[in-house]
Amino acid sequence: MIPLPNNAEIFPDADSVARAAADRLVALCAESRQERIAICLSGGSTPKRLYALLAGPDYVGALPWERLHWFFGDDRFVPWTDEASNVHMARTAFGDAPIPEGHLHGIPTDGTPESAASAYAETLRGFYGADDLDPARPLFDLVLLGLGEDGHTASLFPGKPAVDEREAWVVAVPEAGLTPFVPRVTLTFPALASARQLLVLVTGAGKREPLTRLAEGEDLPARHISSVGTLTWLLDRAAADLG
Ligand code: 6PG
Repeated sequence: MIPLPNNAEIFPDADSVARAAADRLVALCAESRQERIAICLSGGSTPKRLYALLAGPDYVGALPWERLHWFFGDDRFVPWTDEASNVHMARTAFGDAPIPEGHLHGIPTDGTPESAASAYAETLRGFYGADDLDPARPLFDLVLLGLGEDGHTASLFPGKPAVDEREAWVVAVPEAGLTPFVPRVTLTFPALASARQLLVLVTGAGKREPLTRLAEGEDLPARHISSVGTLTWLLDRAAADLG
């Protein structure tokens, strides 16, 4: 077993990690008295299982879809029709989920990564209703993040300037640190931290190395994941090296 992050919960497999995250979202929605509930989606492959679960018979009837707004923590700067797009991944995984028109807020992919970052920051500020993030009033009700094999999260890659951004909510990442090597647009750590709940979903043996490096104190980007609310790592046994 590898040394685990604080606030880590271990589950038998990737499906039970997804179910644990889905259960938390259902509970969050049930407790919320807000007219709108903002979820920040992670990209890559790990969350596909969760998004499909939410759209499936076990959960679709338990969620207030008309109140839910779905945002993205990052995306590859490719058309939403591109297989590498996180919007494409989420739309595919959500399938026939009853997401109302205008409730899936993808990161723009026209113009330049810089103009897309500015435009998405405006979208977030418009939804939030203020230019500064108040820790007492988080931007997101739930933020989902993943962990890359190099220790990145969202599109905040080791050695790239975006990791150190503390003012802008959204920035361009001209050079990704891991495949796909396309420009990215990513929320920054201050924006991602503006969460009532933040969940980091990590599954599979391929994540043992970054988890170990983090546990050994290496200053990888994922070390800077924080939340003004709660922060919980949901790991499966394979990632935690529990056989
Ligand atoms: C992305 C993601 C990225 C992802 C990690 C883990 O756009 O790729 O936002 O941060 O969460 O790379 O990806 P996997 O789930 O595919 O291992």
